[in-house]
Amino acid sequence: MAKYIISEGVPLKGTIKVDGAKNSVLPIIAATLLGESRSIIEEVPDLNDVKIMCNLLRSLGAVVEPQADKSAIAFHLRNTTNSTAPYELVNKLRASFLVMGPMLAREGFVRVALPGGCPIGSRPVDLHLKGFATLGAEIAQGHGYVEARRTRKLIGNKIYLDFPSVGATENIMMAAVLADGQTSIENAAIEPEIVDLASYLNEMGACVRGAGTDTIRIEGVERLKGCNHAVIPDRIEAGTYMVAAAITHGNVKIDNVVPDHLKPIIAKLKEIGTEIEEDTSSITVKGSGDLKPIDLKTLPYPGFPTDMQAQMTSLLSCTAGTSIVTETIFENRFMHVSELKRMGANIKIEGRTAVIEGKGKLTGASVKATDLRAGAALVLAGLAAEGSTEISEIQHIDRGYCALDKKLQALGAKIERIEEEQY
Ligand code: UD1
Repeated sequence: MAKYIISEGVPLKGTIKVDGAKNSVLPIIAATLLGESRSIIEEVPDLNDVKIMCNLLRSLGAVVEPQADKSAIAFHLRNTTNSTAPYELVNKLRASFLVMGPMLAREGFVRVALPGGCPIGSRPVDLHLKGFATLGAEIAQGHGYVEARRTRKLIGNKIYLDFPSVGATENIMMAAVLADGQTSIENAAIEPEIVDLASYLNEMGACVRGAGTDTIRIEGVERLKGCNHAVIPDRIEAGTYMVAAAITHGNVKIDNVVPDHLKPIIAKLKEIGTEIEEDTSSITVKGSGDLKPIDLKTLPYPGFPTDMQAQMTSLLSCTAGTSIVTETIFENRFMHVSELKRMGANIKIEGRTAVIEGKGKLTGASVKATDLRAGAALVLAGLAAEGSTEISEIQHIDRGYCALDKKLQALGAKIERIEEEQY
């Protein structure tokens, strides 16, 4: 397994380009299963999670063809050869559970391994299953698998989500587009990735209205065709580079962003004392040595994203004074804290709250990435630390950031990737 070595912290300067959104492309790849003809998805980020999702689609019978332009991939499921998403894949990538809605709608039967727990929490799928059952599917569970079956077409219905789950909203939306009649999803998630998925489904011929509000209305249609669709930029990758600029007191222009999607991150970075200039599709972040502590709480969109909590915890550890970070989305998302403590951070966890007694500098140490965003947080801490930081288990970071080392090197960072055979 590879590791990153950051030899010393330097202020980052220059321009960096954000890739397509991981959390948009994964449900959109699942949704390609619904099309009777080929879809070409553009702006696909070169990530391990995308490769796993492509392999899952191939195992179901889909033809998956990377296009000459590396960031486009064509998908077409003509004949299903298999209806099971096995544990080996679902365990590696929770988003593979998102094939359930499209396969149920299209084929009438699907069997998907139960995802189980993950480092950030138990992450149940009860809301997905409740939604499918409300549309008339029969759900059975056993031997670590869930089976969903319909003996006739799904029937549109009213679904209220107890929590605005991103994955449940997406999965139910994908099942409902081919149902008979109207479905409404109430208390739906309103993340930009939901809107992107709805746009793709509508381009395929679906009738999805209200995505981006808490009530989504879907009028079922007979069939969907493939189409071309470019995914939106990754707001979490953008936010991570914004924090990189702030934590190193640098000056970085981040290109290919939708500033509206970054509102909560911009607001919190400004509150800390970072200077931010917004343009139509770029953001420039100028960090200062004079940052202030803040309180921060993760919430569903448009609240502060849980996927940026770990990165902000690194920044606040380097910001003199007491900051309080509350995690309300996942129950166990403070795995980065014990690693940050090895770098000299002073953080106490009380339930879902981290109390951070920030100091000016962290010190480099050997640390371990425990999950994707925890790993990103350690890279950020290393970019600002005194001395050398070695981050192991970076396969977690590869799941969500393309060419992280190269992009940061272009900004002047002293980061090096060492492959396993080299040490
Ligand atoms: C998606 C994102 C992930 C992000 C999360 C929250 C993708 C591929 N992943 O994950 O990066 O951190 O949104 O913004 O898009 N829950 C239930 N029952 C369910 C489903 C969810 O109780 O059936 C709970 C979860 O345990 C969690 C909360 O709802 O506490 C949020 O989960 P959800 O919004 O579903 O996140 P994901 O779609 O898994």
